[in-house]
Amino acid sequence: MDWRIDLQESDKEIKEHFASIGKLPKHIAIIMDGNGRWATERNQNRASGHRQGIETVRKIVKASSQIGIEYLTLYAFSIENWKRPAMEVNILMSLLEHYLKAELDELHANNVRFMTIGKSSSLPKAIQRLLIDSTEKTKTNTGLTLNLALSYSGRWDIVRAVQMLALDVRRGTCSPEDIDENLFSEYLSTKSIPDPDLLIRTSGEMRLSNFLLWEMAYSEIYITDKYWPEFTKVDLYEAILNYLTRERRFGKTSAQVQDNTQQVNISYLQRVINAIKL
Ligand code: IPE
Ligand code: IPE
Ligand code: MG
Repeated sequence: MDWRIDLQESDKEIKEHFASIGKLPKHIAIIMDGNGRWATERNQNRASGHRQGIETVRKIVKASSQIGIEYLTLYAFSIENWKRPAMEVNILMSLLEHYLKAELDELHANNVRFMTIGKSSSLPKAIQRLLIDSTEKTKTNTGLTLNLALSYSGRWDIVRAVQMLALDVRRGTCSPEDIDENLFSEYLSTKSIPDPDLLIRTSGEMRLSNFLLWEMAYSEIYITDKYWPEFTKVDLYEAILNYLTRERRFGKTSAQVQDNTQQVNISYLQRVINAIKL
């Protein structure tokens, strides 16, 4: 299905307004949390929460692509998540495999570039293969970059970067004096993508859980009480709208960062979003 023609009038309106503002977050990162609680509250097993969570992934990837987000990083499985009961880990791995196999053609047809970050050597071999193939197949696509954080943790990535940097110093390809923030970033698995502008976390938890620790130094944080399986594209629009109201100062004063670009007509956008909700 071509996602460009599968847009409702209200989505088109949102898209055009977001585009005209020119301040859309380039990179959105999401901690997809609350699958288990969503299921438990409905007297279902945790697996059904994860299954429903995959449906949300489908919807949010599509909506992000449709409104012109350039990078979407989804925290799908942390290194710490390996400590969960084996049965739950197995279910998560098979859902991931199933999702990728089922979605790859549609992602590719919609110009999505797929990539992953994380300690992929810990993943089952079949999934490693699938990730390599999916990345390879979509590598020249120019639309949304969908980055899945799988068996990922921020500290793991930083330590890995330090190790590789130390190796280069030992080899003599760089010296300790050359090391600055830019050079260090080059050793992280996120080197090819900009830092997230907006972090969304579902299920009301107010923590980073070892996600993109270096990269989120100046990300705007948006937390919603909704569980991931019930998060919708309208919730995504609301998160973006909220982001548009933030003043990103990066340490400067408010007067220093005032710009003359078009002011965001928040109340208008809020009305459009409210109308979709009805
Ligand atoms: C997020 O939902 C999915 C993963 C971490 C893999 P959870 O499974 O963490 O759900 P809760 O937080 O227990 O409700
Ligand atoms: C964070 O969620 C990891 C993912 C969403 C993949 P967790 O559910 O693992 O986080 P904690 O344990 O509540 O911090
Ligand atoms: Mg959780």
